Amino acid sequence: MNYIGSKLSLLEFLEESIDKVAGKNSNRVFCDLFAGTGIVGSYFKKKGYKIIANDIQHYSYVLNRHYIGNHRELTFAKLTKEVSDLKNIDVKDRRDFVCNYLSDLKGKKGFIYKNYCIGGTKGEKIERQYFSDENGMRCDSIRQKIEEWKEKKIISDDEYYFLTTSLIESIDKKANTASVYGAFLKKLKKTAQNNFILKPAELIINNQEHEVFNEDINEILKKTAGDILYLDPPYNQRQYATNYHILETIAKYDNPEIYGKTGLREYQDQKSVYCSKLKVKKVFKDLILNAKTKYIFLSYNNEGLMTLGDIKEIMSLRGEYGNFTKEYNRFKADKSENRNFTANKTVEYLHYVICKNQKY
Ligand SMILES: C[S@@+](CC[C@H](N)C(=O)[O-])C[C@H]1O[C@@H](n2cnc3c(N)ncnc32)[C@H](O)[C@@H]1O
Repeated sequence: MNYIGSKLSLLEFLEESIDKVAGKNSNRVFCDLFAGTGIVGSYFKKKGYKIIANDIQHYSYVLNRHYIGNHRELTFAKLTKEVSDLKNIDVKDRRDFVCNYLSDLKGKKGFIYKNYCIGGTKGEKIERQYFSDENGMRCDSIRQKIEEWKEKKIISDDEYYFLTTSLIESIDKKANTASVYGAFLKKLKKTAQNNFILKPAELIINNQEHEVFNEDINEILKKTAGDILYLDPPYNQRQYATNYHILETIAKYDNPEIYGKTGLREYQDQKSVYCSKLKVKKVFKDLILNAKTKYIFLSYNNEGLMTLGDIKEIMSLRGEYGNFTKEYNRFKADKSENRNFTANKTVEYLHYVICKNQKY
């Protein structure tokens, strides 16, 4: 997924830097507590680490619950009651088969169509076009079917999160936006015109049990211990809750009250203090002081709300501080917003501290 602050293109830099500080040893617990798309945890999961993942957004919980939490083959054993052809399908091919079955469902005029497609909002005070009508209806029928299967208990939790992740990833690729859900485009762009099919999300099989949470980091940190704590907070004032509000609604599918031009859902509970210039230093200091790991790593860039000096001062409270840097292409959410920036590249920092007094 094209996600603000995604570390997809920095994974090797992260691994090399972490290995230099903490040594190369994957028999450890890696805590990724601002997990976003789950790409960092997935990378280290593949290397053999046990992962603890967390994020305040529910769509992120869904992604991580699948990419990190799921680590065994999914058999869809009980779904054979409803999809009888499944019995004849090899277990390893069943994920594809179920996704194809869902892709073939006829679209329905549900919440997404009625609120975020032109057909559903035509003649209303605010007309929205986040998806083509067809894709909005497909999204609704697939999401409703997944929920129905869950309620009937004919899919397991693991299967539920696999399917919901596949839906979030697939529909996101067909969104009629410049990149995030803070605005939609007036005309349907080319990729948004193509009908989406449900592409099975990657399943990373390994023999570790992982843990996934959906809480504020400063709460989850009190209950979490491990070897390596990796922190990748928001860098600026842009709230993830507003930029990805439609993915949140697809993940929850809870028919929320929505408002405004973009059809925002209420998000006060998910408003991140890491996006507040006034509050970030205090909560970050609490986080660092309460971490129960030997190594703490922090991704941040040179344009973030906290300065290099702030970060160094706070992280040094726990022990020996250092950092690695890498030039990085700026995330392009939408061109007009980036108009004021002159530089195309930013410097991405990986700060670290080797804690003297371990708290566990
Ligand atoms: C920079 S992104 C992480 C990107 C991630 N490393 C990736 O590569 O996909 C920051 C994440 O922090 C989450 N977040 C913001 N404030 C949070 C908080 N107080 N507690 C937990 N998660 C939070 C956001 O929802 C967002 O997914």
